[in-house]
Amino acid sequence: MNRPRRTVQAITAALFVSLVPVAFAPPVLASTQTTVVPLQHMKLDLTDREALRTGALYVLHRCSACHSIQGTRFSSIARQLQISNSQIQRYFNQSGRSVHDTVVSTMPADVMKKFVNMTPPDLTVLAKRRSPDWIYTYLKSFYIDPHRPTGVNNVVFHNVAMPDVLANLQGLQVPIMKSGWLYGQRKPVAMGVKQLTQGTLTPAQFDSTTQDIVDFLTLVAHPHAKERAMLGPWILGLFALMSVLSFLLYKLYWRRVIMPTRRWWHKQ
Ligand code: HEC
Repeated sequence: MNRPRRTVQAITAALFVSLVPVAFAPPVLASTQTTVVPLQHMKLDLTDREALRTGALYVLHRCSACHSIQGTRFSSIARQLQISNSQIQRYFNQSGRSVHDTVVSTMPADVMKKFVNMTPPDLTVLAKRRSPDWIYTYLKSFYIDPHRPTGVNNVVFHNVAMPDVLANLQGLQVPIMKSGWLYGQRKPVAMGVKQLTQGTLTPAQFDSTTQDIVDFLTLVAHPHAKERAMLGPWILGLFALMSVLSFLLYKLYWRRVIMPTRRWWHKQ
């Protein structure tokens, strides 16, 4: 064996040996380590028009008091929910804006700053960034926390600035605390909630209302999801057809180049 080769082998072996302690070392805790709470799963149905209408009512009556939804217009919501522009103006649009306007929060930004110390993020952006399961779990996981200015905290969003705007429907909840990690420190962490008082809706009704809200927000964030799902199989079919055609073309071209005895597609 020659010398350079032996040197390379020695260096490689040394590298491997030096990596062994890394592989077996206990994981170093990042300072942001936080216990991840499992999300609750919901069934999304963007074709259920009744559910979407209920969701739209809640979102446009409650959420848009603070959040803008600038990714959509009242007229496009009307089209998606299959209702007329006059109906959307009469029953859904609380802001007095034109039907062709985007959905802008009715609360001025400076009032919002005084109230919750920030401008709430736009709901179109939120619904694109967060998964439906996350928003569903978030809306159901507010709990009483006397240390917070709003009096509530959230299981999936620690120290959230949003008040529990659905509390009258759901009732109040207390946290189920377990030992976990919060930003790199071992602490009791809220892993779930327990019902303390009954709201105006039963738990099952509240679940379905929350699902309707998330359904509607997902529709607003992905207005073409239904068309995409419908087009998908056709596009895949087109790809399959193009594959067959391009294979036939390949055979046609290469017939001139590859000898008949060496053609792999029909061995003679
Ligand atoms: C009183 C004003 C107010 C109302 C009403 C309100 N929100 Fe919020 N919301 C906020 C604020 C403020 C935040 C930002 C929280 C933070 O970053 O700490 C927020 C945050 C959120 C977030 C998570 C933000 C993130 O960064 O991921 C979601 C999701 C959300 N709101 C959904 C809703 C929905 C759905 C409704 C209607 C049922 C609603 N909100 C009604 C004020 C409000």
